[in-house]
Amino acid sequence: MKRNLIIVLVTVGFMSPSLAEPGDAARGQQDFRACAACHSLEPDRNMTGPSLAGLWGRKAGTLSSFDRYSDALKSSGILWNDQTLDQWLINPQRMVPDNVMPFEGMKNSGARADLLAFLKEATKSGATPKQSARTQMNGMGGMMGGGGSDPNLKKIEPAQKVKAITYCRDTYRVTTADGKTRAFWERNLRFKTDSSKDGPEAGAPAIMAAGMMGDRAAVIFATPEEIGRFIQSRC
Ligand code: HEC
Repeated sequence: MKRNLIIVLVTVGFMSPSLAEPGDAARGQQDFRACAACHSLEPDRNMTGPSLAGLWGRKAGTLSSFDRYSDALKSSGILWNDQTLDQWLINPQRMVPDNVMPFEGMKNSGARADLLAFLKEATKSGATPKQSARTQMNGMGGMMGGGGSDPNLKKIEPAQKVKAITYCRDTYRVTTADGKTRAFWERNLRFKTDSSKDGPEAGAPAIMAAGMMGDRAAVIFATPEEIGRFIQSRC
C-alpha cells in the first residue's frame, strides 16, 4: 500500500508542464497586474520593460523599439515559448544571471500556468487587449505612480497642466492651468520626460502626484530641453 502511494507521488512529481492542468486565463489576467506596471501588451508601447506583444516565438532581447535590454538577456539565445517563459517566471535571475528585470519570481506553478494562459492569447498579433488592469485616474488625487496606469498626458485636466514653475531658496512653486499654485520642497519634486505618443504637448508639462501623502509630485515634460527653460529662479 505504501508502495502504491510512493508510485503515485513519483508520477505526479514527474508530470511535465504540458500534462499539468491548463491555466485559467481569467485568473491569469488578474496575475498580470504584477507585470502591468512595467509591461504593456500593445505593440511597441515600451515602459520600464519591453512590450510583450508578439512574445511567443520571439528571441529574448530582440524587440527593436526597446532600448534598455541588458547584455545578459540579449546574449542569452533564449526563444520564448511555454517552457522558457515558465522558467523565466520561476526565477528570472537564475535563468539569466545579470538580467535587469526587477522581479523575484513566481513560485506557484498554478499561478504561472494561469498567467501564461492569459499572456499567450493577449500577446497574439491582432489581440487588442483592453488594459483592464489599467485604471484611469484624473486630477491630482489618487495617482499611485506605476507606468501602467499613466494616462495620456495630452488630455489632462487643467489641474494637471503646468503653466509656470518658480524656484526660490529650497522651494519650487508650480502654477497649474486652474490658477492654483502649490509649493514643494525641492527634494520632493521630480522632473521627468515622456517622448511617447502619450507624453505631454510641447510647452505644456503635466504634474502628477507621486506617493500617498500628497507632498511629492513629478512634472513630466515633452523634452529635456524644456526643463531648464521652464523653471524661473525668482522669489
Ligand atoms: C519592475 C519592472 C518589471 C516587472 C514588475 C516585470 N518586468 Fe518583465 N522585464 C522588465 C525589464 C526591465 C525587462 C528587460 C530585462 C533585461 O533586458 O535584462 C523585462 C523583460 C521581460 C521579458 C523578456 C522580453 C523580451 O523581449 O525578451 C519577459 C518575457 C518579461 N519581462 C515578462 C514579465 C512578466 C510576465 C512579468 C510579471 C509576472 C514581468 N515581466 C514583470 C521589467 C519588469
